Amino acid sequence: MKPDLKIKNKVFDFRNPTVLPSGFFGEKFGEMQEIYDSGAGAITLKSIGPKPRKPHPNPIIVKTEFGTLNAVGLPTHGYKNMDEFWNKMKKRNFPLIASIYGTTINEFAEVAEFVAAKKPEIIELNVSCPNVEKFGMPFGCDPKIAAQIVEKVKAVTSKIPVMPKLTPQANDITGVAKACEQAGADAITAINSVGPGMKINLKTKKPILSFKKGGYTGSAIKPIAVRCIYDIYESVEIPILGIGGVSNGEDAIELMLAGASAVGLGTVLYSRGKTCFKEITKEIEDWMIQNNYGKLSEITGKSHDL
Ligand code: DHB
Repeated sequence: MKPDLKIKNKVFDFRNPTVLPSGFFGEKFGEMQEIYDSGAGAITLKSIGPKPRKPHPNPIIVKTEFGTLNAVGLPTHGYKNMDEFWNKMKKRNFPLIASIYGTTINEFAEVAEFVAAKKPEIIELNVSCPNVEKFGMPFGCDPKIAAQIVEKVKAVTSKIPVMPKLTPQANDITGVAKACEQAGADAITAINSVGPGMKINLKTKKPILSFKKGGYTGSAIKPIAVRCIYDIYESVEIPILGIGGVSNGEDAIELMLAGASAVGLGTVLYSRGKTCFKEITKEIEDWMIQNNYGKLSEITGKSHDL
């Protein structure tokens, strides 16, 4: 019998476990629909913020030997200036994860309340961006602040599940995950990019990125993602969207064995293109056939069995 690739739990209801993570296709409805049509199970928006914010100047992305650095700078039109986008989104036929951020706890709630009215399937809280000063990653490093954000957002989003995206830079990522769960989080996204890291141009002797430092992504961070997901799985009951360095079906299986229910495909888009969603879903299916698994839920967290 063919394995069942659908994922269905209290929070995720996707036709397959591959998810487009936040940040890859800004606010372009057509591209998101295209990614879904080419095989993704769910689509995450680039984080929407409280007020218009310009990107950092170019260069905002640079490849390194083993991964990619990016510092885009959380650009956003601001939630009040996206009517055209939301009008187009009425036509969507895909599960939508709306990523949001604020520069204060109250701003998170303000943006969340507005976005909740657009009825995404899930609201993701970006408490982990490495590329802005003062807000972003520091929120996700502090269990108390992360929990306060979750609590305030939950109070204004009625039934829409809320999913904070955690940073591997937290001293104690499980402490942050637990605090978020206690505050009412419905799921956890783990992980955001690692670092920040840097690359210096030997000719100019200067940092390549305009913001100098940027979040590190790609295959090199997979072991860190696996460890974070493994630890979070041991400390919370809520489902995990695993992201970090997945570039083929076996990588996806590894994140699931650690505890992920669904898996993001981000940096791999640069090398494999948008057909990676369909291809990696097939690679997951092939692995399941070879290893006699009928359902994804039998794989999630399997590495914890004694
Ligand atoms: C940006 C935001 C992130 O959360 C991240 O991991 C990398 C880059 C950004 O917009 O700069």
